[in-house]
Amino acid sequence: GEARAQTASVFNFPEVEAGVDADHHVAAGYDADILLRWGDKIFADAPDFDPLTQTEAAQERQFGYNNDFVGFIPLEGSADRGLLVVNHEYTNEHLMFPGIVTMQNGEMAVADATEDRANIEMAAHGGTIIELVRDGGKWRPVTDGALNRRITAKTEMQLTGPAAGHDRMKTADDTTGTKVFGTINNCAGGVTPWGTYIMAEENIHGYFLGELPADHPEAANYERLGVPGASYQWGNFHKRFDVGQEPNEPNRFGWVVEVDVMDPNSVPKKRTALGRFKHEGAESVVAADGRIVFYLGDDERFDYVYKFVTAGTYDPDDRAANMDLLDEGTLYVARFDEDGSMQWLPLVHGEGPLTAENGFASQADVLIETRRAADLLEATPMDRPEDIQPNPLTGRAYVMLTNNTRREEANAANPRVENAFGHIIEILEADGDFTATDGTWEILLQCGDPSVAEVGATFSTETTRNGWFGMPDNAAIDADGRLWVSTDGNSMADTGRTDGLWAVDTDGDARGTSRLFYRVPVGAELCGPCPTEDMTTFFVAVQHPGDGGDDWEGHGRVSYYEDLSTRWPDFEDAMPVRPAVVAITRQGGGRIG
Ligand code: FEO
Ligand code: CA
Ligand code: CA
Ligand code: CA
Repeated sequence: GEARAQTASVFNFPEVEAGVDADHHVAAGYDADILLRWGDKIFADAPDFDPLTQTEAAQERQFGYNNDFVGFIPLEGSADRGLLVVNHEYTNEHLMFPGIVTMQNGEMAVADATEDRANIEMAAHGGTIIELVRDGGKWRPVTDGALNRRITAKTEMQLTGPAAGHDRMKTADDTTGTKVFGTINNCAGGVTPWGTYIMAEENIHGYFLGELPADHPEAANYERLGVPGASYQWGNFHKRFDVGQEPNEPNRFGWVVEVDVMDPNSVPKKRTALGRFKHEGAESVVAADGRIVFYLGDDERFDYVYKFVTAGTYDPDDRAANMDLLDEGTLYVARFDEDGSMQWLPLVHGEGPLTAENGFASQADVLIETRRAADLLEATPMDRPEDIQPNPLTGRAYVMLTNNTRREEANAANPRVENAFGHIIEILEADGDFTATDGTWEILLQCGDPSVAEVGATFSTETTRNGWFGMPDNAAIDADGRLWVSTDGNSMADTGRTDGLWAVDTDGDARGTSRLFYRVPVGAELCGPCPTEDMTTFFVAVQHPGDGGDDWEGHGRVSYYEDLSTRWPDFEDAMPVRPAVVAITRQGGGRIG
């Protein structure tokens, strides 16, 4: 292996004190500036945000809700001008709409959706593409940027790759099986080396309601994904979200979506070659031979880690030549062995158990039912795989495993039962080659409070009481190859601290040392950490601030009209709490961290 000469941390900033309050906090010497809030104008002619009279038409021109993935795509090679791409994962109706929450016998109830409300929710989903410029060291949105765009749950998209056009993808409204409207529950994502924006479709089950016709052939497929989850009521107004009326529509969601941001009228493409499951994200890296490797987590308890290797190679001098690389390649699922080795098992029709006998008549069937195919290959069931971040400098990749309180049997790669705080696995691809079909792995961190022995956390002893975290969700590798981790769930776990952004050493004696750089307001989680290439800015996404979570008995939800625990980021009575993207810079300029 490589020399591990350094002994000190590669980070040098004064740590933030962990805690919980109504505001966000960044390390001393840094600014955390609000950049884009739910309702902010994405186009110069968009209406001003008015939470009391919100409409679908207004929301389609404004920044969406619950910002998750954040990416930055420089324009014309400039470090001071570029496109910010942001996913809007889901909506918190109780925090968005006044007058829909009532108390019934001490329990909070949210009123049934109206058609208008459902349409506003649909317009608040999807993604935003907006031009940013940096003036005097500070970023601002350019609302008349020619490439600005909102993508919603109604935007026309194209299904491409091996499952496109298959009978299981056809509906009454689309007899071609290739034309679908909208993308939903876009959690994390990615930016490709050729500058396209990747939106991963994660918890799609909650958007479908109704009942499948008796003995419907998709019954087992949908059960494996929890469809219909019936969290949203869109299906009462749009029949395609009612599986009783449009039984194939769920097969058209759960994919990775690629958007050409350089053409605001481009039709986003759902790339079926990357499989269908609860896609957390899709971070990519250029392998030594020029093929592109995408790392893909399926965020569910006991689901799997995947990667996709393109058949073709990346051409840095010809953007157009890269635009359909994602339609051809090999999808693999990971088996983590007890001896610290691992295998990437190909999900290829006709190989091993992926045959007609087992219900896979073609590669389309393998991809539509990726989870069942991976079950048959005996992949390793994991503790909720979230973001997976490759490090192009080292040939390693970091897997965020957020938690799994239902695990009853430990194994080497998921070493704790009732894993409340999650862990991070470091994959070392064979010979540092990202296309390798085998490799080794280590546990970088078992998360949680190291001062509580029974938690079994493995942070270094240099890690302070501020520096530990639980529930890793998103990660970033900066231009220097340093690892940053953001979290989801620390507030809900009643740990006296919120979620935030932590800097984690991966090498030398400092390996396993973590320190807190930024923390979010009460109720929020932190998503989308996105360092710019020059490391002068960290864009971060504060998601669902002020939310009490689903624990009605414990913390309870807070509603628009309740005495909110925070009114971040505006702190005005007339404004609800709002999810927002924040730009973190060093006071006086310079590199972060
Ligand atoms: Fe949307 Fe896996 O978090
Ligand atoms: Ca996530
Ligand atoms: Ca990431
Ligand atoms: Ca999350």
